[in-house]
Amino acid sequence: MKKQIEVQDVSFRYKSHAVLKDINLSVYEGDYIAIIGPNGGGKTTFTKLLLGLLTPTQGSIKIFDKNVIEVRKEIGYLPQYVNFNMDMPITVFDIVLQGRLQRNKLFYTKKDKKIANEQLRKMHIIDLKNRKIKELSGGQRQRVLLARALTKQPKILILDEPTASIDPEGQKDIYSLLKDLPLTKIIVSHDIQVLFEGITRVAHINKTLYMHEDIDTTIHREDGHFCELELLDYITSHSCSN
Ligand SMILES: Nc1ncnc2c1ncn2[C@@H]1O[C@H](COP(=O)(O)OP(=O)(O)OP(=O)(O)O)[C@@H](O)[C@H]1O
Ligand SMILES: [Mg+2]
Repeated sequence: MKKQIEVQDVSFRYKSHAVLKDINLSVYEGDYIAIIGPNGGGKTTFTKLLLGLLTPTQGSIKIFDKNVIEVRKEIGYLPQYVNFNMDMPITVFDIVLQGRLQRNKLFYTKKDKKIANEQLRKMHIIDLKNRKIKELSGGQRQRVLLARALTKQPKILILDEPTASIDPEGQKDIYSLLKDLPLTKIIVSHDIQVLFEGITRVAHINKTLYMHEDIDTTIHREDGHFCELELLDYITSHSCSN
């Protein structure tokens, strides 16, 4: 399998506060990695390093053998917190279309609009196309942002708790949508449900990174809700060798 991301001996600190230490990770084409870990463990910081929004204090990150900044446009990203300016009269379609924006590009082409429509359909929100963003529920907004990230037609998709404000049914829906996207995916999630939807590996981040390989995703839970503690118990008993 082709290696796409190479994280080597990466450490990161905010001023004097060391957040990540000696992180190593290789991500391959088609990987679908879940990142779990406690609040403040460094998960969001790690995703920002992958996107080049932050720079490692030590070590290096290469994506497609290049510096992160050079390949940023090939990475789709859904941040943990998004502040919408609720006063803006902008429609769902406009927001998704903005995913096609590039530097020095002054107008949208027919192709841009076609791609935006396709993604709206894929995310099952085509009927919301002309609605204003402030009129949507939290779950609907997440889908809009996901559609927007996908209009870039990225090779890699990074999602930071994409289902945090979504009910269990809606979460299931998003996970099954994600599962079928033929991309390399990295998802920060506290939700064990994600395990049953095509995850290939689970990384635990709490300052350092521990990778759980070969997760057994064949067990099933009947009731809808799962929590991170359960996930930790599960992966510890199934695949953690130490
Ligand atoms: N801009 C910042 N300046 C200084 N410290 C920061 C900054 N952003 C985050 N931190 C600190 O870095 C540590 C890691 O934060 P991070 O947001 O990466 O955690 P997380 O694993 O994503 O947590 P959560 O599960 O709550 O989202 C925390 O201790 C946090 O207080
Ligand atoms: Mg976070």
